[in-house]
Amino acid sequence: MKVLINSKGNRILWKAGDIHTEDGTIKESEIKSPSKKVSTHKGKRLIKFDAKFADIIKDLKRGPAVINAKDAGAIIAYTGINSKSKIVDAGSGSGFLASYLSNITSNITTYEKNKLHFDIAKSNLKQINPKIKIKNKDISEGIDEKSLDLITLDLPDPENILKHAEKSLKSGAYLVCYLPNITQVQSLVKKSEPYNFILEKVLETIEREWIVQDKICRPEHNMLGHTAFLVFFRKY
Ligand SMILES: C[S@@+](CC[C@H](N)C(=O)[O-])C[C@H]1O[C@@H](n2cnc3c(N)ncnc32)[C@H](O)[C@@H]1O
Repeated sequence: MKVLINSKGNRILWKAGDIHTEDGTIKESEIKSPSKKVSTHKGKRLIKFDAKFADIIKDLKRGPAVINAKDAGAIIAYTGINSKSKIVDAGSGSGFLASYLSNITSNITTYEKNKLHFDIAKSNLKQINPKIKIKNKDISEGIDEKSLDLITLDLPDPENILKHAEKSLKSGAYLVCYLPNITQVQSLVKKSEPYNFILEKVLETIEREWIVQDKICRPEHNMLGHTAFLVFFRKY
């Protein structure tokens, strides 16, 4: 896969064949050539490079609401997962969180109970990392995997999973729940009390992008504010 960037900075992900862009048609043979630039039939030049993870994930199909890079980044940084970590994720949704995590370790199993979402996530994960295992299963029925370093739950009722998470996590390992409403967080924290979890941190991340272009040097008008709260528990 290649990424082509035109003079306006627009990004086009190329997989196969000739492509038709706002700048004109680009021949497949031109894209496959070793040159770092390609020309359209109108003589417009585009920059070309090999597509990386960050390009491919943007192009995946979106079914249910996906986790953003800012939140996936916080999960990766604060749990300290590495290439040896073993992870369970649920619900798979569109497979975005499992994809971000798979950039750190391939030892991931993700559970999705809805067959429609399972099919979307399965097809997305195949493109990102075919080693990720995906199960069409309700995680509240139990977690088959044991000695886990991290469980991530992006689903409405994580309290139903606490007893399974407690059994499947290693001592000191993390359970991270992703919840849009603070009332859900409050209820989850209360319901976690009978289990061997300590609440380490509740946070939300906010991202503000800037435009830096000649004399224009200011934040974008719209920012990525609230998505959901991240609740970090540690098993003891
Ligand atoms: C918001 S989406 C998850 C998005 C995903 N984290 C991503 O980044 O693409 C929530 C998903 O959880 C699934 N789900 C809800 N409860 C579940 C359960 N008990 N077991 C497995 N999947 C569940 C839903 O069907 C839905 O697809």
